[in-house]
Amino acid sequence: MTHMKRLVLVLVVVSLFAVPMLAWAYSNMMDLPAADGKAVWTYITKSNYQEWPLWPGKGELYKGLQPHGAFLTTYVSKDALKVIKGKKGMFGNGAIIIKENYSPEKKLGSITVMYRVKGYNAEAGDWFWAKYKPDGTVDADGKVAGCINCHNVKIENDWVYTGPVK
Ligand code: HEC
Repeated sequence: MTHMKRLVLVLVVVSLFAVPMLAWAYSNMMDLPAADGKAVWTYITKSNYQEWPLWPGKGELYKGLQPHGAFLTTYVSKDALKVIKGKKGMFGNGAIIIKENYSPEKKLGSITVMYRVKGYNAEAGDWFWAKYKPDGTVDADGKVAGCINCHNVKIENDWVYTGPVK
């Protein structure tokens, strides 16, 4: 084999590995948005959250309790899905739960999000909370007292209502 051919071969092999490695690194960089309403909205819409898994055992537009909406559709990130299915007890850093809240006429009224950010708010389960209008306008975000004060009823279930996680 000539030097040139060998060089080409090496480059081909290296690029075969490099491309997936870079894609993997990039997708991981994309993984965790800042704990900020707009950043989280950008992240969930860019990653097409409506194609994420539904909360196990809940279909689209299931009947909701007060206060969120008459009908709900709840999406979970892949890592969150594993926690729920495996009854692992606690969501990991980066877990995201997105709930679409619909009126009795099944009109989308708001989108509420819980996002686990390790070290963000240890007193309240390290959850970042956000509420959006359907167009993405941020209605509330951060350490939202209203959300926290009601969800803390479920502190033993990692602050979530929809189903048992342990
Ligand atoms: C008065 C109580 C109450 C308040 C206030 C409240 N929630 Fe909830 N939340 C619930 C209940 C009850 C459910 C379960 C919904 C159902 O199945 O009907 C829920 C479910 C959720 C879920 C799906 C995950 C889970 O916990 O089951 C998210 C996400 C969520 N709420 C976000 C928020 C955000 C963000 C706020 C503040 C803007 C908020 N909630 C305020 C009671 C509340």
